[in-house]
Amino acid sequence: MPVSLRGVTRGYPGLTALDAVNLEVADGTAVALTGSSGAGKSTVLHLLGGMDAPTTGTVEIDGKALTPRRMDEHRRQVGFVFQRFHLLPALTVLDNVLAPVLPRRVDFDRRARAVELLEAVGLAARASALPAELSGGQQQRVAIARALIGRPRLLLADEPTGNLDSVIGRDIVDLLLSLRERYGTTLVVATHDPEVAASCDRIVRLQDGRITADTELTPPADVLDRLGGLRP
Ligand SMILES: Nc1ncnc2c1ncn2[C@@H]1O[C@H](COP(=O)(O)OP(=O)(O)OP(=O)(O)O)[C@@H](O)[C@H]1O
Ligand SMILES: [Mg+2]
Repeated sequence: MPVSLRGVTRGYPGLTALDAVNLEVADGTAVALTGSSGAGKSTVLHLLGGMDAPTTGTVEIDGKALTPRRMDEHRRQVGFVFQRFHLLPALTVLDNVLAPVLPRRVDFDRRARAVELLEAVGLAARASALPAELSGGQQQRVAIARALIGRPRLLLADEPTGNLDSVIGRDIVDLLLSLRERYGTTLVVATHDPEVAASCDRIVRLQDGRITADTELTPPADVLDRLGGLRP
């Protein structure tokens, strides 16, 4: 879904985490947020996900202002992936994936979707394992399946590769990008890893709560060729 920040400031006592930020994320795109620690990346994700509200300015979802009344409904359309996985240690892999939709009324078969997602992340065979029995990369795959269980239209990831070595991190980003295509979600990823950022469609750089660079990336030539001669 298309999401934007319009003149968004987020202040805390004595500091401005975001300063009059304007950001438009087009439907279905993958945007990387980069910038040093404290630049405001997580703050942007929390605002886009309806987990925080601006001090001034507006968050827009589908071109409509996100009012306090609509925040609960919006959060149900968002999947979130964290740096530290945050799986529930006493639940199996399958139950971790199911957990977010168990208390909710949904119009799909929860268990069938959980199994489909575990297949999509390559972990169908580990459905009854406990998180502690999985590697870090596998735990993050479970967390990605869990983020997608509620059919989100927006997937937010905060340093999803921050606790993984770079080879595994690469796999995780490729997985996020391919699931984004498969399920038609918009993806916003906060990352310190230049390689992760480079695989997105666009890199937005933050510094001290302001956007200091905004770069559209051209897909590699082979991708353009596969898309059917769209090459300029
Ligand atoms: N709950 C809070 N109370 C006070 N200040 C906060 C709070 N959350 C964030 N901040 C401040 O807002 C600024 C932006 O924080 P944010 O977490 O968005 O940075 P970040 O770019 O995600 O950094 P990192 O790369 O370290 O995760 C920082 O100065 C931070 O200390
Ligand atoms: Mg952060």
